[in-house]
Amino acid sequence: MTTYVITGAGSGIGAEIARRLRESGHDLVAIVRSERRAAELAGPGVRTVVADLERPETIADALAPLAEETFAGLVHSAGIAELGTVAETAADVWSRTLTVNVVAVAEVTRVLLPALRRGRADVVLLNSGAGLRTNAGWTAYAASKHALKALADGLREEEPALRVTSVYPGRTATAMQRGVREQEGGVFERERYSDPATVAGVVVSTLTLPVDSRIDDVTVRSRG
Ligand SMILES: NC(=O)c1ccc[n+]([C@@H]2O[C@H](COP(=O)([O-])OP(=O)(O)OC[C@H]3O[C@@H](n4cnc5c(N)ncnc54)[C@H](OP(=O)(O)O)[C@@H]3O)[C@@H](O)[C@H]2O)c1
Repeated sequence: MTTYVITGAGSGIGAEIARRLRESGHDLVAIVRSERRAAELAGPGVRTVVADLERPETIADALAPLAEETFAGLVHSAGIAELGTVAETAADVWSRTLTVNVVAVAEVTRVLLPALRRGRADVVLLNSGAGLRTNAGWTAYAASKHALKALADGLREEEPALRVTSVYPGRTATAMQRGVREQEGGVFERERYSDPATVAGVVVSTLTLPVDSRIDDVTVRSRG
């Protein structure tokens, strides 16, 4: 039995990844923001750890009980998107965005590294098209995702025992995208976006890739 650690398993792409891993018989440790999410997710084969990724200084203590374990993989799906031009974006938005989307990702990875090395694990980071290209009005989010790419690329060079994969989805029909469309003043057009189950399938295919190979980067775009 193998165990995967996942953030963001409570909704969207992360929830679909968690569902598929459970269906394949894997155990999960879900790192969740709140006791409410923990109660929703906990069940047979699913343990939960409560850690607010906006408070990375709390992560090491929260994850300490996992220190002696061995994990097959770590999937970073948690993330936030607050749109705005540089002129509109105050320091608190920059701090929150970089903290959740980058600093917490690095800290969760750092704390779990011994358990990941033991498992010769996969580390998958949900990036974004915004991690490769910056559109006007997306600067803070894009800066965080560009930094997340650098984190993945550096981790891959530093930790040869791990396979590190950045996944770059386009617009995907989740709660985050609904919020993005509200911020853009547009309509949420589910049929024009990728299905979160499709993106999750790509993530799971990287996790189940035979050991002789690795996928460093994969872009998934909707056809709509
Ligand atoms: N949807 C898209 O169009 C799209 C496109 C490109 C890339 N992505 C990326 O894909 C990933 C998943 O996005 P999604 O669309 O599935 O979003 P989502 O449905 O909004 O899910 C985001 C998850 O992140 C968790 N999270 C947010 N802040 C947190 C915090 N402070 N502490 C702990 N957990 C926190 C949320 O937990 P709660 O629900 O408990 O708050 C939620 O489970 C993100 O990294 C996103 O940037 C999404």
